[in-house]
Amino acid sequence: MTVAFLDDEFVPLEEAKISPMDRGFLFGDGIYEVIPSHGGKLIGLDLHLARLENGLNEIGIKIPWSRDQLTNIFTELMERNGNGNLGVYLQITRGVTMKRNHAFPANTPPTLFAYTFDIPAPSSGDPGKVTHWKVTTRQDLRWQRCHLKTTSLLGNVLHMMEAVDEGESEILLFDANNRLTEAAACNVFVVHNNEVKTPPLDQHKLAGVTRDMALHILRVHSSLNVREIQITKEEVLSADEVWLSSSTKELAPVVSIDGQLVGDGVPGPVWVQAQSLFDQHRFDHFE
Ligand SMILES: Cc1ncc(COP(=O)(O)O)c(C=O)c1O
Repeated sequence: MTVAFLDDEFVPLEEAKISPMDRGFLFGDGIYEVIPSHGGKLIGLDLHLARLENGLNEIGIKIPWSRDQLTNIFTELMERNGNGNLGVYLQITRGVTMKRNHAFPANTPPTLFAYTFDIPAPSSGDPGKVTHWKVTTRQDLRWQRCHLKTTSLLGNVLHMMEAVDEGESEILLFDANNRLTEAAACNVFVVHNNEVKTPPLDQHKLAGVTRDMALHILRVHSSLNVREIQITKEEVLSADEVWLSSSTKELAPVVSIDGQLVGDGVPGPVWVQAQSLFDQHRFDHFE
């Protein structure tokens, strides 16, 4: 039985209920986070909390819980759910109002919901033990505020289903000028001649915590050249390696794009180096 946290109490997930008048339900009016943890230790906590605070600020939700209070909720949730390999999901919506109105009320108490779900055990960078990702491609048809980690995810959901309908498990998205943005639920890295590249942040991509940690780890602990730079579709298709990054996948090697092999069609040596370094540093303090 999974334990969740809703309305200031711990409850069995099956019994957690919200009002249909919650603006999260009516409008997708909320912000969420997914924080990975292993053995009760949270990864990148300060980066996740900072992104949560930025997102809530930007959409005008005042957060009544301090960082310490949130951390205590996460700690108790992890404990009650067995302290294994857990993703901690947190969602804060603008709360419940009895009138459905696009314009939002000034002072509704927000709704906080959290629960945990199982994630893979940490990866050591062994190509034999990691999922080899096959992806498809599309023009990015989401909105102009993809930097917000909002619960309004229909654009991402529809793109993900394009991948699923083709028998693939993720989708690389490109803007109208054929420049890489991100994937439906991940950021993207490419490797060319031992140089690691990822597109710069803007309102078309989520500022992934894993992306941030990986950039930091590679810059500090490797001699690889690492750049944040626009990447065209042609450059992605001719890359030596392509990786996805997200909190639950860490660095995930892509082995084919639209049915064409990436490099030799197996996780490449730079991925092995990068994920091995990630393995050594995932519990470092990042802020
Ligand atoms: C659209 C999108 N981009 C990127 C990411 C990666 O973010 P993070 O590394 O913080 O998990 C996610 C994660 O869910 C995502 O949904």
